[in-house]
Amino acid sequence: MLKRRTVKLKSPREIEAMRKAGALASQTLTAVGDIIRAGMTTEDINTFVHDHTLSQGAVPAPLNYRGFPKSVCTSINEVVCHGIPEDRALLDGDIINVDVTHIYEGFHGDTSATFYVGSPSKEAILVTETSRRCLDLAIATVRPGARLGDIGAAIQDFAEAQQLGVVRDFVGHGIGQEFHEEPQVKHYGRAGRGERLKAGMIFTIEPMINLGTWEIEVLEDEWTAVTRDGQLSAQFEHTLLVTPDGVDVLTARERVLANSEIYPDYWKAGTAGSD
Ligand code: MF3
Ligand code: CO
Ligand code: CO
Repeated sequence: MLKRRTVKLKSPREIEAMRKAGALASQTLTAVGDIIRAGMTTEDINTFVHDHTLSQGAVPAPLNYRGFPKSVCTSINEVVCHGIPEDRALLDGDIINVDVTHIYEGFHGDTSATFYVGSPSKEAILVTETSRRCLDLAIATVRPGARLGDIGAAIQDFAEAQQLGVVRDFVGHGIGQEFHEEPQVKHYGRAGRGERLKAGMIFTIEPMINLGTWEIEVLEDEWTAVTRDGQLSAQFEHTLLVTPDGVDVLTARERVLANSEIYPDYWKAGTAGSD
């Protein structure tokens, strides 16, 4: 069979299924926020996500996806993405991205957030809050007629203005009955370039922002991506629907994310970087 390279628009029925998958993934990620604490291991997070997902009647998409061995990705500090849960305890001052993907009645919902463990350093706050803001700025560009390059430019312009690096090696992606579909959503680029967005498209945006260089390397486990310079990296991800008048965040949260949304004023004018 020919691989589809054009973006398929979702039908109303598919959109309703994707709403449900997104909502469930979001609920699991919110529940993860409540349990994050120093001393727990990434394997504990894996067990929690696995059980929580199954209790919803959903399935964790990462498990056995292209050989991935666990039910969630847990990426600490210099790990950019695709960290494999293991017997590693969270330490005070760590940042950790937890990336949850559910399959519910055949449809995927994909969302991640970076959490603070205990008291973060200034650098940890900078990279995490910049990543969060990059995702929000990117979402704000999404509407019919906008272009993929508008998304990338929004992220790149803001991150680079803070002298932070935007990871090039991983992209956001269309999502539906497959985990990863067309289009590829780059987190860098030029406004006004690239494919036009259309109502009915569903894709993720998931910027990975590095404190230093954007360059990464993949460890021998063939999954764990780390920053080349060993400095911190942070990421947030939502699954989005392009609607006739803008965007719907299918993985929107019902409440504030514990251990993550603790600096709501960080980017308010005049306060950034001050103590
Ligand atoms: N959830 C990741 C993404 O946002 C993909 C993880 S693939 C896995 O695209 F196999 F590592 F789970
Ligand atoms: Co994704
Ligand atoms: Co993800």
